[in-house]
Amino acid sequence: MYNWLQAEGITIHTLEENKPTETIAGEKRIGLLKKGDMVYAFSATCPHASAPLCDGWLDAQGRIVCPLHKYRFDLANGRNTSGEGYKLKTYPVEVREEYIYIGFI
Ligand code: FES
Repeated sequence: MYNWLQAEGITIHTLEENKPTETIAGEKRIGLLKKGDMVYAFSATCPHASAPLCDGWLDAQGRIVCPLHKYRFDLANGRNTSGEGYKLKTYPVEVREEYIYIGFI
């Protein structure tokens, strides 16, 4: 099953709504996005050319837009919705008390 690691330096109370936020979990750079009751976790580096995705923004459909070449990704499944054929790594999330845990295989 998953190896759950706590996101460093952040809690569900300090994570801002709709703002991509970079954290570290298990020495990996992970992006987090809180949207209503959901928290999404994803690789903080773009699968195209490793730009920092948390410097990007959300489009009108809530997809993250990479700041470098503007490719778009669905944070629920990592799909490259602008069609370039890349896949963003996504991770399961659990919130335990106020702490955010990310599941690694
Ligand atoms: S580095 Fe993200 S789209 Fe190119």
